[in-house]
Amino acid sequence: MNNVFVFDHPLIQHKISLLRDKNTSAKEFRELVSEISMLMGYEVTRDIPLKEVEIETPIGHARTKVISGKKLAFVPILRAGLGMVDGLLKLVPMARVGHIGLYRDHDTLEPVEYYCKLPEDISERDVVVLDPMLATGGSACDAVKVLKRNNAKSIKFVCLIASRQGIERLHREHPDVAIYCAAVDETLNDDGYIVPGLGDAGDRLFGTK
Ligand code: URA
Repeated sequence: MNNVFVFDHPLIQHKISLLRDKNTSAKEFRELVSEISMLMGYEVTRDIPLKEVEIETPIGHARTKVISGKKLAFVPILRAGLGMVDGLLKLVPMARVGHIGLYRDHDTLEPVEYYCKLPEDISERDVVVLDPMLATGGSACDAVKVLKRNNAKSIKFVCLIASRQGIERLHREHPDVAIYCAAVDETLNDDGYIVPGLGDAGDRLFGTK
């Protein structure tokens, strides 16, 4: 499938295994989500354009490159997406952060929007949507719809674990959105959880279970 990137870097794979372990504490889980997000961010930002600048080093003159001023926005889907923000902000501190709040209706498993606050100039930014789990794909598709309604033009989706079904749905409904993940799991259970997955990412991040 084009536009889908699965990161097989050993550091990422190692940390994903620790993340899946049910004995990993909330503190360790938060640290791992942040670290993996930062490592993934390195590749997700690979196409940021550069421009040449001239600077003086202590020894002499250098023609070198800096990021060209292209603007980024990170948009976590509340609440689990929040865990991915600080790792990415460490890499790109000048990025803006929007928030989209969605909860899953227990019966239909479909997302219901309850909050949306985006940077005013979202249409001029490269938008990176964050959610650790791409399960049914419902929340991801809805978040992308909200962003497009707000005139976002360039959108990427970054998750840690994706189900095959979630990838297929997001890719089918929004083929323009590149998907980045660290692992692909084959199945979903009847409650819409990824199997084997890692459980409820929000609960594990915030210790609410
Ligand atoms: N959300 C989670 O936190 N975990 C899943 O497995 C699916 C959705």
